Amino acid sequence: MKKNKFKPRPFVKWAGGKRTVIDQINKRLPNDFNAYFEPFVGGGAVFFSLEEKKQEAFLSDNNPDLIAAYKVIKSSPRTLIKELKKHAAKHSEGYYYYIRRSSSRDIVDIAARFLYLNKTCYNGLYRVNNSGYFNVPIGDYKNPDIVQEENIIACHDLLKRTKISLCDFTKIRPGKGDFVYFDPPYFPKKENSFTKYTKQNFSLEDQVRLAEFIKKLDKKGVYIMLSNSMTKVISDLYTMNHFLKHVIYAPRYVNCKGNGRGKISELLITNY
Ligand SMILES: C[S@@+](CC[C@H](N)C(=O)[O-])C[C@H]1O[C@@H](n2cnc3c(N)ncnc32)[C@H](O)[C@@H]1O
Repeated sequence: MKKNKFKPRPFVKWAGGKRTVIDQINKRLPNDFNAYFEPFVGGGAVFFSLEEKKQEAFLSDNNPDLIAAYKVIKSSPRTLIKELKKHAAKHSEGYYYYIRRSSSRDIVDIAARFLYLNKTCYNGLYRVNNSGYFNVPIGDYKNPDIVQEENIIACHDLLKRTKISLCDFTKIRPGKGDFVYFDPPYFPKKENSFTKYTKQNFSLEDQVRLAEFIKKLDKKGVYIMLSNSMTKVISDLYTMNHFLKHVIYAPRYVNCKGNGRGKISELLITNY
């Protein structure tokens, strides 16, 4: 069979994507582990960057549209590409808002709509109103790359061997020797930071719930890595002696006018 040479990369633009800090994360991965779990997978930048992808991988997230896209790329990439080509051919401002208002129960339609909106909306943001309707305005792209056929096929080759689930992070069941990379919505440094990916915000109670869950897995002998904001609240949730706190630096726009690029420190916590 012809081998696909194209290196798979994240097929969505995603807020909080780890592309810019991937090297700092990769050099702190455990040397060896059994299965890989990513329960806040988003765009999956870390998963796609793993050098050795021989391990069994379990990817999950609680965003239904995103998980529909992962599942359809895994099961029916050709049908998805056909649908994306139809969207690309019709793309215009009017068509964008027409599709934004539309809904479907068919998983391929859901995935194609989600990917079309992700490639054409403002900054690839995913934001929904209180009734759960996607409400991001159209972005300012001359030629949005809507179909990405080669990448979808390359992602399919990789996702064939993964288990994909729509679920809360507490539903994963890693065992001793497995590795979990947790990349939750960050605890905000400022009140109005963006942490809303689905109808529900990720609250302080969720951060506490996550810390409890991580401590349970730690006792089972699971390798853990957690990304989060460099804040006292988060640091105080992980005080056990063997938990290491690494500081990493992410390039970010640091003021709201967008003309001040700077580096923001983030926490990377490991139990190994
Ligand atoms: C910071 S993003 C992950 C970014 C990802 N690492 C990347 O490189 O694109 C956080 C993700 O957590 C998901 N999420 C929020 N609350 C969740 C929950 N309770 N359980 C599982 N996933 C959740 C969001 O849908 C979002 O995709």
